[in-house]
Amino acid sequence: MEFNHKPVMLQECIDGLNIKPDGIYVDGTLGGAGHSLKIANLISKKGLLIGIDRDEEAICVAKERLKDFDNIKFVHNNHDNIKEILEE
Ligand SMILES: C[S@@+](CC[C@H](N)C(=O)[O-])C[C@H]1O[C@@H](n2cnc3c(N)ncnc32)[C@H](O)[C@@H]1O
Repeated sequence: MEFNHKPVMLQECIDGLNIKPDGIYVDGTLGGAGHSLKIANLISKKGLLIGIDRDEEAICVAKERLKDFDNIKFVHNNHDNIKEILEE
């Protein structure tokens, strides 16, 4: 599956997140990991990124794009279940 998608308002999102290297971040619409790749590059090994997508193919594409990072959790689920996902 090709995921030719230009991340929307990428810099605005990153500025808004005000990323702390050891922080925990959630991308609730992971898609092709356009935003998540930027976040992954800004967090340290002590940081954590949780990527959620209801589309399994998007998860596959994102896993490939983010394969160099080991502080990412991929969740195939609906972001409406974010409370349960984070509790887990
Ligand atoms: C526009 S794409 C996101 C692109 C991503 N931000 C990027 O820059 O590559 C939207 C993604 O959100 C996912 N999505 C939409 N609604 C969702 C929901 N309720 N729960 C989980 N994923 C959802 C879709 O499957 C799709 O992969």
